[in-house]
Amino acid sequence: MKVKKAIIPAAGLGTRFLPATKAVPKEMLNIVDKPALQYIVEEVVASGIEEILIITTRNKEMIQNHFDKSFELEIKLGQAGKTEMLNEMVRISDMADIHYVRQKEPKGLGHAVGCARTFVGDEPFAVLLGDDIVYSQGKPCLRQLVEVYEKYGDSVLGVQTVPHEETSKYGIIAGEKIGDRTYRVTYMIEKPNPKEAPSDMAILGRYVLDADIFEIIRNTPKGKGGEIQLTDAMKILLKSHRMIAYDFIGRRYDTGNKQGYLEATVEYALRHPGVKDGFGEYLKSLV
Ligand code: UTP
Repeated sequence: MKVKKAIIPAAGLGTRFLPATKAVPKEMLNIVDKPALQYIVEEVVASGIEEILIITTRNKEMIQNHFDKSFELEIKLGQAGKTEMLNEMVRISDMADIHYVRQKEPKGLGHAVGCARTFVGDEPFAVLLGDDIVYSQGKPCLRQLVEVYEKYGDSVLGVQTVPHEETSKYGIIAGEKIGDRTYRVTYMIEKPNPKEAPSDMAILGRYVLDADIFEIIRNTPKGKGGEIQLTDAMKILLKSHRMIAYDFIGRRYDTGNKQGYLEATVEYALRHPGVKDGFGEYLKSLV
């Protein structure tokens, strides 16, 4: 089956980035000239998927407004002859078919994914975390995962190696190599301390999942942090389904924490055609 739908959970509280995220959703924090979430929607579209469901929540209307049409702005930009900016505004609202569903309480990532059940139905679907952006010069990260899904027909988890002392921040997998950058998952665990970690391969915000996960999520009890964890549900899925981990190519940023956000801002600025020269000079003058 083809992967035609993507869901982006963006209903978390963003406590690691308070007070910035008290009124502004962390997924809407700006990176150079676009909110983090726009980079993710663009990755989905560049990966050949045009139906997107964003899991949102109270006080995050800003997300809907950003991807909506803005008549007044478009008229003003048109009148002022600012065609380039006008085209960009139109592009944002026409980019994809975006739907929204609310997660009523932030009960965890697993629960957030569960909110997409009606939208997804029984097809395989992609999940991209709303605060994880991946820069790739070649194929977009999600496209890489979709191609692995098309080859094997099994759920695919995007992974990369993280420093051993940081395993407690991620879902960690163990696997057997079955191809180039590709592993059959044999075990997974949510946020293990380094002593318990079966490897340093962390699941990093990109998944293609079998729809059977929904029934499992419905029955998954609260796990680490008192939240319904996606990794716990996937661990149960693994008992009956083969799962693949793919070591994707690309630079991943966790924009939901201050360090990751700043790294993304600096590195995207150094790639941005209108900013890189002046900003690069400025950085040189600092060091
Ligand atoms: P995080 O664990 O990074 O989000 O979830 P969080 O809970 O907002 O983070 P902190 O620790 O409080 O800072 C990864 C993604 O899953 C979404 C988040 O919005 C984020 O994009 N999420 C998380 C939900 O949609 N619902 C939840 O209940 C939890």
